[in-house]
Amino acid sequence: MRRVLDLHCHLLAAVDDGPADLAQALSLVAELRHQGVNYAVATPHLLSPRFADGVEAKIARAWPRLQEQAAAAGLQVFLGSENHCSGQLDPEAFAQAARPLGDGPCVLVELPDDHLPARAWASCFALVRSGRRPVLAHPERCRGLCGDDEGLAGFIANGGLLQITVGHVAGVHGWAMRWRSRRLLARFPQACVLSSDAHDLRARRPAWDKLPAKFQRWICPDLPSLASWQGGI
Ligand SMILES: [Fe+2]
Repeated sequence: MRRVLDLHCHLLAAVDDGPADLAQALSLVAELRHQGVNYAVATPHLLSPRFADGVEAKIARAWPRLQEQAAAAGLQVFLGSENHCSGQLDPEAFAQAARPLGDGPCVLVELPDDHLPARAWASCFALVRSGRRPVLAHPERCRGLCGDDEGLAGFIANGGLLQITVGHVAGVHGWAMRWRSRRLLARFPQACVLSSDAHDLRARRPAWDKLPAKFQRWICPDLPSLASWQGGI
C-alpha cells in the first residue's frame, strides 16, 4: 500500500483562508484520510500581508488541538507554514523567519501570483546557504515564472523542489493550470512533488482522488524522504 505525504494543506482552524473552525478542520482531516493521505503538514500562511494579524498567536492556539484530534482520526500532522516571499525582507531575514516543514530541512516558499519579486531567488539561496531545502509552492500559478525556465533550472540545481498542486494536474482548476502543472512535471521531473494545497471541502478541496495514475510517481511517501527527494525519476 502506497504511503502518501501531503506537504501543503491549510488545516488549522481560524488562522487564514483555511477552515473556519475545528469542526471544518476535522472534516478536512477525514477527507484527506479518505483519499489515502497518511501524513500531512499544516501550512498556514506566514509572512503574508494578507494574514499578518496575530498569525503566530492563532497558530499557537489552533495547532495542539488539531494535532491531537487528527492523530485520533488516523492522520499524523506536522506543523509547517507557507512562507510568503514578497521580496520586502532581506533574504537572510526571510531565511531566518521562515518556518520549515516539521522538523526537517525543507521550507515551503510561496511567491506572489502576478510577478517574481526581485529578491525571490536570493531569498531561496539564503535558505540553501543556511542548510535548508526550499520548496516552491505551486510554481504553475506564478505568472512571473512563466518563461523563466532558466531561473527554475538554477533553483533546482541548488537543491530546490517544485510543489505541484494535485488539483491543477487533475484539471479541476481549469485548462491553464492543467497545462502549466503538467508542463513543469515533464520539464523538471526530478524536482517535482505533488501536494493538495487543500483549504476546504468546496472549491479548494483535496483532489488526490482525481489524480490520474500516471502521475503517482510524484507522490512523496513521508517527510524524511522529502529531504532527499529526487522527484518522479
Ligand atoms: Fe497554500
